[in-house]
Amino acid sequence: MAESTSITTLRLKNKIAIVTGGASGIGEATARLFAEEGARMVVIADVQDKLGKEVAASIGGERCSYFHCDVAEEDEVQSLVQSTVKAYGQLDIMFSNAGIGSLSKQRVAELDMSQLDKLFTVNVRGMAACVKHAARAMVEGRVRGSIVCSGSVVGSHGSPTGSDYVMSKHAVLGLMRSASMQLAEHGIRVNCVSPNGLATPLTCKLIGVNEEEAREVFRNYARLKGVVLTPKEVANAVLFLVSDDSAFVTGLDLVVDGGFSPGH
Ligand SMILES: NC(=O)c1ccc[n+]([C@@H]2O[C@H](COP(=O)([O-])OP(=O)(O)OC[C@H]3O[C@@H](n4cnc5c(N)ncnc54)[C@H](O)[C@@H]3O)[C@@H](O)[C@H]2O)c1
Repeated sequence: MAESTSITTLRLKNKIAIVTGGASGIGEATARLFAEEGARMVVIADVQDKLGKEVAASIGGERCSYFHCDVAEEDEVQSLVQSTVKAYGQLDIMFSNAGIGSLSKQRVAELDMSQLDKLFTVNVRGMAACVKHAARAMVEGRVRGSIVCSGSVVGSHGSPTGSDYVMSKHAVLGLMRSASMQLAEHGIRVNCVSPNGLATPLTCKLIGVNEEEAREVFRNYARLKGVVLTPKEVANAVLFLVSDDSAFVTGLDLVVDGGFSPGH
């Protein structure tokens, strides 16, 4: 009896999900949460093959698999989506999360354009390819699916540094807003989750500190006290947007920033 009660409360029962950038950080936490919430299959797509396979194995082969996919290569994104549909019948959820940071402290007057191109190829072009191919699969399969993109609080604000990254996250908002309007007639929802800075391998590498030190750096970013922003908090916001709890929500930029930017 207790078992059947818990099964009915699973929010992603029978869903097929792709998580790009699922080998690490926010993507990994979200892949784990999707599996815990009853997803039939979570496909982790990443370029870190060893790590991605380890994460998938730790979640369990019957609920999670790994697929090598560089989102900067559209044909790899297409084959990720097509092979997912072929293997599991449909695609219900795309968490388009893979992204890279601004390696140098790019200020506008000193912009390294080749670095900007590299970053845009992943953060903008890659994000667009994931939304495009997920949308096609959902429309063709007549699935009223949910697409969530990883934005950032800097998608709505300027910043003293990291101009290329800031620009890329503004572009993600434009992609999400356009896609949400264009796909609504098919019942497909498209939203963003936009965290403030948090400790993940991406930010630890960028600022050259370990996870604990990064947590200290980011602790003061939030006005909200008593809660620390972790990948799990972001994953919870993604879960809300891909579950039926948000069935009438589309075109939203859900900021997860502890009141850093109220009313942006
Ligand atoms: N950590 C933060 O402070 C923060 C804040 C706001 C937004 N974000 C966004 O959240 C997302 C996840 O970041 P994270 O902090 O978890 O970083 P992370 O580095 O821990 O994870 C990102 C994952 O994306 C993968 N990836 C990178 N390039 C890829 C490519 N071309 N194709 C496929 N996979 C690729 C990486 O291998 C890695 O596993 C990013 O889009 C990032 O911009 C992060």
